[in-house]
Amino acid sequence: GFPEYVKIVEVGPRDGLQNEKVIVPTDIKIEFINQLSQTGLSVIEVTSFVSSRWIPQMADHTEVMKGIHQYPGIRYPVLTPNLQGFHRAVAAGATEVSVFGAASESFSKKNINCSIEESMKRFEEVVKCARHMNIPARGYVSCALGCPYEGSITLQKVSEVSKRLYGMGCYEISLGDTIGVGTPGSMKKMLESVMKEIPPRALAVHCHDTYGQALANILTALQMGINVVDSAVSGLGGCPYAKGASGNVATEDLIYMLNGLGVNTGVNLYKVMEAGDFICKAVNKTTNSKVAQASFNA
Ligand code: HMG
Ligand code: MG
Repeated sequence: GFPEYVKIVEVGPRDGLQNEKVIVPTDIKIEFINQLSQTGLSVIEVTSFVSSRWIPQMADHTEVMKGIHQYPGIRYPVLTPNLQGFHRAVAAGATEVSVFGAASESFSKKNINCSIEESMKRFEEVVKCARHMNIPARGYVSCALGCPYEGSITLQKVSEVSKRLYGMGCYEISLGDTIGVGTPGSMKKMLESVMKEIPPRALAVHCHDTYGQALANILTALQMGINVVDSAVSGLGGCPYAKGASGNVATEDLIYMLNGLGVNTGVNLYKVMEAGDFICKAVNKTTNSKVAQASFNA
């Protein structure tokens, strides 16, 4: 069966805009996030407190964080790779953070310039500090279904990194198919393995749609008891350190599927499509959401 309710974690302003060639003006980002806040979404990932030399698209993190209207009942997490990012995030008004690790040694080095082991030490410091301040911390595991540099990744490595993040106090572990190579078959095997260590209520899936498998993979995860799904409006997204990786599953398409299944999300599809239309016009691209394409052409 399927869960009654699915929590959607909207990552468009972060995963989406970090990968756009054009740097989106800060006021457009703020307006985009404020529009998303009107859709019924309960979690909107806002920006990343990372190095602007590495990701210039997120250089305005402080201005974005300070500029958005934070509505009660909505959470606005931000990415923080280390204590420096964490302190800057808190100073800018963040009340939830995410650390982001990987199940692949090569990806870890390319993405955050350190080994998995070193990253875990940094994340422990961040999560410890966050807990002292009553700030919830989420943990990402990239390359859970494959790596752009190493190819396949062992189930053991994915479980090990997930367990480590959960053990240090991350309340939720988001399993990332960074380059969208997974299938319902590999998703099922990976989740079976991770669920031996972590209860399904503390897991989320984060699917990129490079090979067109994202919705099928998500459906598989839902059937296995996962009820938190990351997605990006208009199917924006990608990681600059994962060449060829395309966008996240589109929030519009995810909601359409969940509506069809009778699964409650609390999110208004039409309003999400409007926010998607706004950001696509602002970055001058056509939407990757099939549902938005079909609706606007109708
Ligand atoms: P580094 O160069 O190894 O850092 O970068 P360092 O500690 O050696 O310091 C070097 C300089 O960076 C210093 O400045 C630090 O102050 C500065 P300098 O003294 O030379 O002027 N620095 C920072 N500046 C701002 N914010 C910080 C920070 N930390 C150090 N937090 C670092 C290490 C992690 C910062 C760097 O590698 C980085 O920023 N990487 C970006 C990673 C990233 O954002 N990737 C995309 C997000 S992950 C993703 O998309 C996957 C996901 O969606 C899930 C999935 O799909 O799988 C989450
Ligand atoms: Mg991603």
